Amino acid sequence: MFKGVLFDLDGVITDTAEYHFLAWKKLADDLGISIDREFNERLKGVSREDSLALILEHGNKQDDINTEQFAQLAKEKNENYVEMIQAISPKDIYPGILELLTDLKNNGIKIALASASKNGPLLLDKMEISHFFDAIVDPASLAAGKPAPDIFLAAASAVDIDIKEAIGIEDAAAGIQAIKASGALPIGVGEAKDLGDDIALVPDTSHLSFSYLTTVWQGK
Ligand code: BG6
Ligand code: MG
Repeated sequence: MFKGVLFDLDGVITDTAEYHFLAWKKLADDLGISIDREFNERLKGVSREDSLALILEHGNKQDDINTEQFAQLAKEKNENYVEMIQAISPKDIYPGILELLTDLKNNGIKIALASASKNGPLLLDKMEISHFFDAIVDPASLAAGKPAPDIFLAAASAVDIDIKEAIGIEDAAAGIQAIKASGALPIGVGEAKDLGDDIALVPDTSHLSFSYLTTVWQGK
């Protein structure tokens, strides 16, 4: 039986993946760079700085921006994003997530947050679910972001379990890659065209019950 579940946040626990997209889109528009939802799939799970680098490269503007301007743009995006998430509350938790967290707790399964977002703790507080989490990995403490396995390895270690005893839940291609590389069992929220057809997938979080996770674990 699995001993821990390592959760991504944006796009898994709540709809903040959409706010990240809207905030990046505004910044890109201001820079005269056009980004669409297809391009956005490449930003999901990726750190703030790496996302900005990808957008500038996409617009072929990476050489026009110096270090100071880069930091200023990253700050601007985050300020806009943080404004968007102020109104997040428990009613914004995705379907099935609260029940899943409750069932995991009641069954003695460890719960950790493996989100690339520095806004993770703030969001858990706003949704009033911080108390479910036995550990929250600080993404700033890691040598490499997703798709590197570091964040999932750190999450398993923070709750004192072997990574092979963990399930990782992700909505991003970079995140699924990170889970696979870590040795945990991946479950994807989304479509095979984005996440691949070789892992357990649910179309949305309402399918993420404790019994579904148990079934996936037993079938691995
Ligand atoms: C990830 C999101 O969870 O966090 C990315 O999928 C985002 O879109 C990244 O860029 C970093 O988030 P933040 O809040 O630290 O800018
Ligand atoms: Mg995500």
